[in-house]
Amino acid sequence: GVGPWDECFEVAVQLALRAGQIIRKALTEEKRVSTKTSAADLVTETDHRVEDLIVSELQKRFPSHSRFIAEEATASGAKCVLTHSPTWIIDPIDGTCNFVHRFPTVAVSIGFAVHQELEFGVIHHCTEERLYTGRRGQGAFCNGQRLRVSRETDLSKALVLTEIGPKRDPDTLKVFLSNMERLLHAKAHGVRVIGSSTLALCYLASGAADAYYQFGLHCWDLAAATVIIREAGGTVIDTSGGPLDLMSCRVVAAGTREMAALIAQALQTINYGRDDEK
Ligand code: IPD
Repeated sequence: GVGPWDECFEVAVQLALRAGQIIRKALTEEKRVSTKTSAADLVTETDHRVEDLIVSELQKRFPSHSRFIAEEATASGAKCVLTHSPTWIIDPIDGTCNFVHRFPTVAVSIGFAVHQELEFGVIHHCTEERLYTGRRGQGAFCNGQRLRVSRETDLSKALVLTEIGPKRDPDTLKVFLSNMERLLHAKAHGVRVIGSSTLALCYLASGAADAYYQFGLHCWDLAAATVIIREAGGTVIDTSGGPLDLMSCRVVAAGTREMAALIAQALQTINYGRDDEK
């Protein structure tokens, strides 16, 4: 049957593919790079260009949709609020630092929520031509292949992914490194940092890793990926062990509830504030 958000989903897929073409072409060209909240929080003209394209096309196709949460608009002061209205949550380039360095792990992420519930997510790994999708109640896929998370429950057999986050002051780095140290002391097989939260979460959804955690990611890093992970059978929670809060800038995701709980227990908090209080 035809679902209520099918057309939105199809348009999101087309736009993620189009955006990916632009990013792939721009990857090898000269870039003008600026910084945002820290010296490690980067933005380029391509981030703006891709965001403008996605938002303006969505407005054209769905004139009744007025809610957009998009990374670069937020950086220039737009508020992050999730209301009951249909809301698009967009990261035009996830992995901007990778993009700047031509490290080929770069994605476009488009999530969609209605009544504060995530309906679908589309993530385009644009340097590898992989399209990850998840729709509530309809499964998660990569290039048409069904995704399944790992069933691992033992931290001493886990491959764990994380991202550093933009804050680099000594106190933050101390806690970041000590969190990693705790997981290695617990004998995790490895900890990986690939430079893109959305793609790390897609690898988790694919069963290529057992857990993911981060402090300092944003709702646009998390929205689309959360649907994909849940539809692949995984768990997405807050680092406190409680339910996920999309605006809290922190997350633990895992194939199993047991694994997510073990990771959450091991972590010390890094406070990044909230996306909806900025
Ligand atoms: C960032 C990347 C990075 C993660 C940050 C994200 P951006 O997204 O995913 O790996 O550490 O938390 O905000 O700025 O490249 O879209």
